[in-house]
Parts: sequence; C-alpha cells; structure tokens
Amino acid sequence: MHRRIIVPSALAASLLLAIPASAADFTPGAPGIGDSYYPASGNGGYDVSHYDLRLKYQPETDLLEGTATIVATTKQNLSRFNLDLGLDVSEVRVNGKKARFAATGEQELEITPVAPLEKNRTVSVVVRYAGKPSEVKIGGWTAWHRTPDGGVAAQEPDSAAWWFPSNDHPLDKATFDVSVSVPDGTQAISNGVLQSQSSRLGWTRYNWRSNKPQATYLATLAVGKFDITTDRTAGGLPVLNAYSKDLGDNAGAARASIERTTEVAEWLEEVFGPYPFNALGGYVPNVTSGYALETQTRPFYSPRQFNNGANVSVVVHELAHQWYGDSVSVDNWKDIWVNEGFARYSQWLWSEKEGEGTAQELADYVYASRAAEDPFWTVKPGDPGPENQFHVAVYDRGALALQALRNEIGDEDFFAVLKGWPTEFAYGNAEVGDFVRYAERISGKPLAGLFDTWLYQPVKPAAPAAAEAGV
Ligand code: ARG
Ligand code: ZN
Repeated sequence: MHRRIIVPSALAASLLLAIPASAADFTPGAPGIGDSYYPASGNGGYDVSHYDLRLKYQPETDLLEGTATIVATTKQNLSRFNLDLGLDVSEVRVNGKKARFAATGEQELEITPVAPLEKNRTVSVVVRYAGKPSEVKIGGWTAWHRTPDGGVAAQEPDSAAWWFPSNDHPLDKATFDVSVSVPDGTQAISNGVLQSQSSRLGWTRYNWRSNKPQATYLATLAVGKFDITTDRTAGGLPVLNAYSKDLGDNAGAARASIERTTEVAEWLEEVFGPYPFNALGGYVPNVTSGYALETQTRPFYSPRQFNNGANVSVVVHELAHQWYGDSVSVDNWKDIWVNEGFARYSQWLWSEKEGEGTAQELADYVYASRAAEDPFWTVKPGDPGPENQFHVAVYDRGALALQALRNEIGDEDFFAVLKGWPTEFAYGNAEVGDFVRYAERISGKPLAGLFDTWLYQPVKPAAPAAAEAGV
C-alpha cells in the first residue's frame, strides 16, 4: 500500500523555521518532464543512468513484486523528487537512508529524502513495491496485458508505470538490468542479452541486460510459456526469439517472419549504418491486442500480425525503429514522425528491394487513394496531437514526406541523410526541426517549405512532381 505521510501544518511550520536559510535553494523536482502531450510523463530535477530491477511474478495471481534500484544524477538542488509508478510501495531509500514517500497522483510517487540532495551528485534510490499490474489504472486504462499463462508490458507512449518506478519519458534514457523470477516451466523475456538463468525451489530466475541507453517505454517484460530460438549474427551478436506456445494457427507464420530478423537487420545496416545495440530478436506473446512495438533489441509482435501468413514487413518496421525511435528518440511526443515516418518508409524500401513496388509507386498509390476530403489529410504528421499520435497519417503521410524529400534532393543525398542521421544523433533525442536542419545541411538545399507542406498543413498537398510524372 502507499503510505501517505501527513505532516500537521504546525509541525511543518516549525520545521520550516528550523531550516537554515540556504535550504531555500533546495526545491522540489517537477512532477513532469515538460512533454506538451503528456504533462505527467517523466519528472524534473534528475537524470537516471541505470535501472536494476529484481522482480518476482506469479502468473496465477498476476502478483508482481520486487525491488528497483535506480542510479541517477541530480540536476538541481532537490528538496524532493518524483518517480512514475502505479504499483504499491512499501519502502523507499535514498542513498541508503529511509525516505518519506507518498502517492500523489495515479502515476506519481513523491519521495522526500531525509536530507536535501545537492545538484550534480550521484544518488541511489531503492524502491520496494508490489501489486497486480492488470488492476492498475492510469488515465482509465491499463497498459499491462494479462495472458492465459502470464503478462506483458509493451505499450507506447507508456508501459513502465505498470511494472517499475522510473523517470518515464524518452528524454531520460538509461541502461537496464532486469532480473525476474517466475515459476519453473515459465519464461521471463526482456531486452538485450540473457546473461544467465538459474532454477531453485521451484522458481527460475532470468537475468537480462540492455547495455545501451534505453527509453523507459522501450523496456519490456513478458512472462509466459514460450518456445525460444537462439543464434548469433555474423558479427557475433546474440539473437533470441520467443514464441508463445499458444499461437495456434499463427505459429508457423510468426516464425517464418521473425526468424528473418537477422537478414532484415543486415539489410537495414546497409541503409541506416551499424546496428546500435547488443542483441537482436523478437517475441510473440499470446495477447489479444493487435499492434507491434519496437521494444529495444527485442520487438513485441501481436499474434494478429501473422493472421495472413508471414509478415516480414512488420519485422522491417520494428527493426527500423531500432535506429529511428530507439537509438534516436523523440524529444517530445509531438515529434513522433521522427519515429513512424521512417519506420513506414523503410517498409516501402523493403518492398522496393523485393520487387513488390517501389517507394515511389507506393507513395503514388497512397496519395491517389486518399481523396482531398479524406480526414486523413487533416492530421498533421509533424504535430498530430496526442489523440492522433498513432493515426495512419503519421505513418503514411509521414512516409510521403520522405518520398517528397527523396525527389527534391536526389537518391545520393537522400540515402546519405538516412544513414547519417542515426549516427549524428545516436543514443540521443531529436525533434522534427533537427531532421529538417540535418537534411538541409547534407543536401545544401532549403527544405523548410517542403516539410511544412507535408508535415504541418492540414490539407492534401498538391501532387508531388514525380507522382504526377508517374501517372
Ligand atoms: N510504435 C508502434 C509501431 O509503430 C506503435 C504502437 C502503437 N500503440 C498502440 N497501442 N496502437 O509499431
Ligand atoms: Zn512504428
């Protein structure tokens, strides 16, 4: 349970009087990091470098319990600070000492250390917590998928608050060690490399490591009964795929798609440059929802992605995100085009390579199939609003913007931009304007008008030149 600490006001006043003047320089960290779409996401005043999660999950009851140790650096003089978490907390320690804490909102855990924290210091925060993630509601819903044999955290823009305390925003990336104990015969899947697993007393513990900066929503946990395949890439990176034992008729198609992860990643390296992480793979839990997600190193795929047979295109999409979305992440959720426009365009490039239609042909098709009155054109991919963050226009019109760019600057510069960007901003964050400026720098052409037309005007743009010529 959250323990609410109530300080009677008289006592609070006397405490205030007792504090030396300099303490006035210590102020609370903001309860949000400043995202314009999601004001409660993330927090201010500190920057996390590492999460160490030591958890136990019982599929029968959906009880998740454990300890998170967070290593962070203070960015201001802090009197207190927040973490984002929806589960129940029993103890918090800051730099080893018990701290006061209170749940001050659906996903806000407010922590007051015994002594204020000075700016630019390393701080360790230990949070003991427990709860049933499927019962946690934030904004009226739960991001946790409970499955017949376990549970899964994989959602965008948020999933972390259902399974660990964090600074839940892509602006604050960190490395992760995730250690999860589950009943023997059940597996726990997460990001990166499986360092080890061991069994005792009826429980098996899986130790996962993701050693490059990772946004909190890209951390994933899947517990269930999986068939696991392992391999190594030509370059020596471990590949691990996991398929629920309960995929029914979709089992073959799922494998026929995800077992091609290494092949797809090799091709993407030619387009985007070196693969940015320490492991590869994919997993398919027996969830009922339909989407896929680019969880770092190991994308999540709904079984429904494979209803019509193999779907390598979705593998291309989620792996493209490893460069565009995971290594280079949004600054603010309004910049979602920096992820989705490129992941969709990479599907068009795969089609082009496979001889199933060039990117230009697909662009012409999308353009022609959407009448000017189609509300599709009212969504601005460069700032779609939180309600339209994953609208198909962000993807398709987002990719049309890239085709327009390709036609404007030519293949040589276009592909130089596609490959240069993930290096320029590797493991960092960027906004739409950063991409526009980068493309202008590489091509030497002014491009603000082109991007304004394709990303920011709520109307169907005039037919692009090449599309006209094509018909
Ligand atoms: N980034 C994911 C993808 O492009 C989208 C996930 C959208 N989430 C959702 N609940 N619809 O595959
Ligand atoms: Zn995507």
